[in-house]
Amino acid sequence: MQQLRDPNMRRIDSRELADAFIEEQIRLIREQVGDRKVLLALSGGVDSSVVAALLIKAIGDRLTCVHVNHGLLRKGEPEMVIKVFKEQLGANLIYVDAADRFLDALAGVEDPETKRKIIGKIFIDVFAEEARKLEGVSILAQGTIYPDITESKGIKAHHNVGGLPEDLHFELLEPVKFLYKDEVRQVGEALGLPASMVYRQPFPGPGLGVRCPGAITRDRLEAVRESDAILREEFEICGLSKKVWQYFTIVPPFRSTGIKDGRRTFDYMVVLRAVNSVDATSASVEEIPYPVLFKIRDRILAEVAGVNRVLVDISPKPIATIEWE
Ligand code: XMP
Repeated sequence: MQQLRDPNMRRIDSRELADAFIEEQIRLIREQVGDRKVLLALSGGVDSSVVAALLIKAIGDRLTCVHVNHGLLRKGEPEMVIKVFKEQLGANLIYVDAADRFLDALAGVEDPETKRKIIGKIFIDVFAEEARKLEGVSILAQGTIYPDITESKGIKAHHNVGGLPEDLHFELLEPVKFLYKDEVRQVGEALGLPASMVYRQPFPGPGLGVRCPGAITRDRLEAVRESDAILREEFEICGLSKKVWQYFTIVPPFRSTGIKDGRRTFDYMVVLRAVNSVDATSASVEEIPYPVLFKIRDRILAEVAGVNRVLVDISPKPIATIEWE
């Protein structure tokens, strides 16, 4: 049975408590690991990033991080992971660009849950292949946090590195498993991770794949990635990035008529979505001021290839869900 958080454990709500947690965890990690080697799937999300930074402090290059690029990451994300972990923290980082493998397997697949299953399965396959190449690794670190243990994950299939093939036996190391998200962020800040990583908005495991509804095509995926980058930049500039819980773009699988340079076009549309939530079980829609919307619209229409229309999704959860798939 899963062990539960000690009710007397203090909430980590200050730099001092975060520092004390880090010190204690370094001691516990060293005790559990001894002179063995540890493997970690580093997605670049808050939880796995904090675990990586903690482990680098505790055991240095006896940690190997594997960052799998499934081709569904946001613009600049793999570069950010490499910059922070390899260049700044000196991590032993293996970067696997498996984009083509994922996108080839997803070609023509329309059903959302089948898409998730394919992404989850190939992720495990790629990670297991990397794990088999390494010698003498007996421990798998994971960024499991307390809500992962106590809360049901809702109605959509989620994936993590659980479910590795049987020939891979790892002892688990889960140093933040009793922390809530805000505590993980405190610890991340105390470890010196960049604010853009520590305060990153939630990002689904299947990534931009669920924002490219229906069968994923490379042109629509590129339009999602570019429009998402514009939305994020503009939300940063106007300060909404600090206020809004989750914001992203969707490019549906159908086209509409437009006109450009006197010529008829038949192109895709970008949908903007910005929502506030506490725990993702319900969500309200953030009001985006029209001048901000117009600036984002102008940039998307000018900079994103194959797009001739911009819409805003104002549906709360329920009745809608946050993502479109
Ligand atoms: P929905 O769309 O169900 O999303 O309202 C609730 C929250 O969960 C995220 N989400 C996912 N996260 N794997 C994940 O790790 C998934 O398959 C997945 N689907 C949705 C979504 O971004 C939102 O924050």
